[in-house]
Amino acid sequence: MIGRSRRGSGIRDATRRRSSRTTSNDDHRRRRVAIQTANSGATSSSQREGRLLDDWRKLYDATAKSDDWLVVHRWDYDEGMAVATAEEIRGKLELQPTDRILEVGCASGKKLSMVIHPQQTGYGFDLCESLVARKADFVAQPERLQLGVAEAARLPVASNAFDKVFCYSVAQCFPSAAYARDVVREMVRVCRPGGIVLMGDILGEMERHRRFLTALKLPVPLADAILWVARPVWALRNSFRTETDGMRRRVFRRSFFRSAVAGIDCVMDFLPQIVSGRRFVKSRYDVWIRKGGADAANRAGEARR
Ligand SMILES: C[S@@+](CC[C@H](N)C(=O)[O-])C[C@H]1O[C@@H](n2cnc3c(N)ncnc32)[C@H](O)[C@@H]1O
Repeated sequence: MIGRSRRGSGIRDATRRRSSRTTSNDDHRRRRVAIQTANSGATSSSQREGRLLDDWRKLYDATAKSDDWLVVHRWDYDEGMAVATAEEIRGKLELQPTDRILEVGCASGKKLSMVIHPQQTGYGFDLCESLVARKADFVAQPERLQLGVAEAARLPVASNAFDKVFCYSVAQCFPSAAYARDVVREMVRVCRPGGIVLMGDILGEMERHRRFLTALKLPVPLADAILWVARPVWALRNSFRTETDGMRRRVFRRSFFRSAVAGIDCVMDFLPQIVSGRRFVKSRYDVWIRKGGADAANRAGEARR
């Protein structure tokens, strides 16, 4: 009994020792695995982002070969509508001839050239070098534009460098919500206090269903009502994806932008898109931000008067 008990106790002790060793080894292993998982998660999500950015770059490399700037910029409306859109952007930016203005995702710069005043210089960055290289082909006075290649989330520009910063019809290409959040904050960073940031032509939630609703030719209130009923149905939500040549286009709720500027002193508003030519459902909108909060907005307003 004693021996057994001793042996038993010895076995129990050994088991306990082993189990305590095993526990601590397991702990170490678990911790190692947790760290590796966290690291590989970070890597894989940034790799995924990189892949998606590359895919968009390739898509735009292909369109850059066209001789029609509307095709190159991937606008499916005519020149007159483009002029009206430029005018709308100018108004929303409260653009003054003396403003330093930056376009993020400027492609060949054609839209920027239509937005700026005749004697003004426009600055722009785009992800795709082959688009930037087409500036002289589409812009009447190319020397008015200074364009470079850079990603929207990483602008090679000093803080507070511009009076007005805009990014039009680009958000759908952002590879993740985190990336889009970085872009919003980056645009605010390079804008001076009291200046305006405009992110336009954002695809809202309803854009997912636009083709479906357009096909049904329903009036807007009825379309809204259908969407309201359909929204909780996950299958429907996924069955009408919004895509460009197989690339998934990103849609955003307005609440996303409210959270993106959390902690930043600014005034935010959501403006309707009036001249986009897609008025069937209110599926697109612009985000308007005045940097520096209400005080800066008042100061900017007084300075204008
Ligand atoms: C639909 S075009 C719009 C061009 C221009 N803003 C306009 O309104 O005519 C989208 C542009 O965004 C650029 N783009 C896409 N993702 C980008 C990113 N992450 N950073 C910078 N530019 C990007 C594309 O290369 C392309 O030139």
